[in-house]
Amino acid sequence: MKNLKSTLLLFTLLALTSCQTSSYRNVASDHHISNNVHQLVSWETGANAVSKRSNEIIRVEHYEIPLRLLQRDFDDSLDPQIKSSLMFKKNNETYVRWLINPEDSKWHLEVKAFLEKHNVDSTPKKFFDGYLTASRSMILVNPENGANFSLKVSTNLTGGNWTDKKQTWKDAQQVRNINKWVHEILPKMKSETLVVMEEPLAMGIKEIDHGMIMRSLNNLPEDKFFYLPAFSALHDEEGARIAKLNGATEHGIANFWDKHLNQPLANAMAEYFSMTGMWYDSPHAQNFLVELDRDMKPTGRIVLRDLGDAYILDDFVKNTKWAWITSHWEDGKVQTGKINTGIGLLKGNTPPKWMSGLEYKEFGWNFYRTFEKRFSELSGIPQTELTKTDSKEIIFDYSKKVYPTTSEAWKKFTRFAACMNGEAQALSGEKCLELYEKRHVKIDCMKAATAIINAR
Ligand SMILES: Nc1ncnc2c1ncn2[C@@H]1O[C@H](COP(=O)(O)OP(=O)(O)OP(=O)(O)O)[C@@H](O)[C@H]1O
Ligand SMILES: [Mg+2]
Repeated sequence: MKNLKSTLLLFTLLALTSCQTSSYRNVASDHHISNNVHQLVSWETGANAVSKRSNEIIRVEHYEIPLRLLQRDFDDSLDPQIKSSLMFKKNNETYVRWLINPEDSKWHLEVKAFLEKHNVDSTPKKFFDGYLTASRSMILVNPENGANFSLKVSTNLTGGNWTDKKQTWKDAQQVRNINKWVHEILPKMKSETLVVMEEPLAMGIKEIDHGMIMRSLNNLPEDKFFYLPAFSALHDEEGARIAKLNGATEHGIANFWDKHLNQPLANAMAEYFSMTGMWYDSPHAQNFLVELDRDMKPTGRIVLRDLGDAYILDDFVKNTKWAWITSHWEDGKVQTGKINTGIGLLKGNTPPKWMSGLEYKEFGWNFYRTFEKRFSELSGIPQTELTKTDSKEIIFDYSKKVYPTTSEAWKKFTRFAACMNGEAQALSGEKCLELYEKRHVKIDCMKAATAIINAR
């Protein structure tokens, strides 16, 4: 009997220890951040003139919230490793790990009060390893299955000039709608320059209008490419170091980033705008990244993130299957007859020593020159028509253009918007013009069959 009692006690202790390990892990983890994800963290936190932060690992805290109390919206194709990082079962109930931003001293208290109101344990738990970035987003690692991803919740303290930012559920829904659209059309359309970091999951607490948005790190965790934030490319030391690594001279650094950040970004924006009719409301450097190969050489591709906050051209979107999207849009951002565009790579930032005010102004002009050339090729709208719209530049801030979209050339382009979403015909039933159709990704059956045979 005594033996049985001590065996039971041992089992109970073992069971308790294993419970403890999953909610309060105190042992070294099996999985860590990948090399290139860590490099992203180091750039985000260390190579930004307006925000220097720690790149050290943090044992971040979260609340465990029963899924039944939350709104959810995620892609069916969401990586199961990521899904199981955020959702797990306890006592036959599905729970969600709701991130607490380690710097936030305000917004998570609303989440805590919400849990208490619903008689749910509001003790913060620890599970993820996390890293800060320049913005509200954090890079998280699931120490048990190795998933690396980015997660964003409200915080009243971020790097940079805009610090106190609530992440609302309303905004998270707009973000998800945009991402669903982009997720559907990107594989159907050729995009030579554009890479998107998609946001395949959002959770929400409707009652207090709080949201949590997950963002994919694409193939960064496999260490295939590096993603250099645009503010790091324009960082006094790091921008100069990478430019020189690629052969730039002391006086050619600004020119290097004009060629490898500013102009490719203009091409990426032309591709993105021609497929969606959307333009960032805040087109600053924190939302763009330069893709670099393993030797830190720019590949020519630009990565866009944080797609939610955008102007949308209704003339375009109403001629696609996604016309409904504008009925859930932020007030004043759905535009008819015109589209607000802008670019401000040093907006909210401090210029590097190697860039003069004139060079920055030239960045703005070169951006629009490149954008208009590429957008004209994609849309069929004559470049001369685009160029005649005046731009407004503010030094070390935004350059802006508001294009009127009422001309015959614009009307023709927007009439065929569905064709720029990979459809075979316009919404009216008209067959797509060859100009638009040639942007469609065609599956070459012979090539696909050969690839399958070779892969066996
Ligand atoms: N160089 C920079 N330029 C612009 N914003 C910066 C910069 N460095 C830090 N930031 C911070 O990044 C955030 C940018 O705001 P924005 O709404 O684009 O991003 P977010 O939604 O917080 O995060 P994410 O882009 O990761 O989704 C602000 O909090 C701002 O203070
Ligand atoms: Mg952003």
